[in-house]
Amino acid sequence: MRSLIVGTGSYAPKKVLTNADLEKIVDTNDQWIVERTGIRERHIADSSEATSDLAYQAAVKALEMARLAPEDVEMIVVGTVTPDMPFPSTACFVQARLGNKKAFAFDVTAACAGSLYALATADRFVASGAVKNALVIGADTLTRVCDWTDRNTCILFGDAAGAMVLKPTDDPRRGILSVHLHADGSLANILNQPGGGSRHPFSQQVLDERLTYIKMKGPEVYKVAVRALEDVCREALDANGMTAGDLAQVIAHQANKRILDSTLHRLGVPAEKCWMNLEKYGNTSSASVPTTLDEANRAGRLNAGDALLMMAIGGGMAWGSALVRW
Ligand code: UT7
Repeated sequence: MRSLIVGTGSYAPKKVLTNADLEKIVDTNDQWIVERTGIRERHIADSSEATSDLAYQAAVKALEMARLAPEDVEMIVVGTVTPDMPFPSTACFVQARLGNKKAFAFDVTAACAGSLYALATADRFVASGAVKNALVIGADTLTRVCDWTDRNTCILFGDAAGAMVLKPTDDPRRGILSVHLHADGSLANILNQPGGGSRHPFSQQVLDERLTYIKMKGPEVYKVAVRALEDVCREALDANGMTAGDLAQVIAHQANKRILDSTLHRLGVPAEKCWMNLEKYGNTSSASVPTTLDEANRAGRLNAGDALLMMAIGGGMAWGSALVRW
């Protein structure tokens, strides 16, 4: 038995921060941001919105599409690196807001690859018959941990949530065919948020050294990303006896248009097969893949049986791909 994605949903906070707005905050300009990243604007959670609030909104839409009552969800897994609190999990807050008592609920941490790690986890439970349905969410409010004095990073990120509902299918032509995941912890230093955990607990010094914010060696991440994404996509195609020509659609983590263009080029996938929305949202971390999937789905770009390749990479480094027959 395989699991099938039967519902998608997404949510972005109302407030929009444009590149022009950023020009007033740091020494940057619209032209640099557009040319180097492809981003034009991003959405920012207001002070009353936490990650679980965004996740809940996306979940409601996905459940509606799946025609699944919130109380009947059996498993909730949230990919996030900006949880409401260190504990309990953001998934538990989502469960409570859904009025659900049946589901077990937990978070997974794989930064921008979080939604694929969450999808892989839920897929195993659904495909094995252990649960009849699962709610998978990628949600992040990275703007809460952006250093608004660091132009290298603060221009990149936005807040959002995306959700997917999985159910089992007997249809041999459809479902999640494979998920391939990788990590290389020796690269932890090129993208991280060093402060606030057990290594550098909150203290005045940690705050003064700005360790509670995202630190990234952009060019190094860029190089690793292009190579790892190509490899993990080829791994997915090879494992399923497919070639790039078999793909109807690619849904990729929206970090940088240049990374995506170059990965697609290396794979031999035409750019029009990859749904892009980073110009509107920036890099939304765990939310990126499921929000992009939801947009493509609601735009009618996905047809039953289509081969769809998802890919993501982020801090860890952690990365992965999923090959799906829609
Ligand atoms: O989601 C997880 C995965 N994350 C990523 O995939 C991010 C990967 N990295 C990237 O996307 C790119 O490395 C960035 C977009 C972050 C940076 O682009 P880049 O082409 O690698 O630029 P750079 O860091 O090499 O910087 C080039 C120049 C520097 O100036 P100098 O030293 O050449 O004088 C920077 O100081 O651009 C300068 N710069 C900026 N200028 C205007 C850096 N940020 C900005 C800025 N506005 N916001």
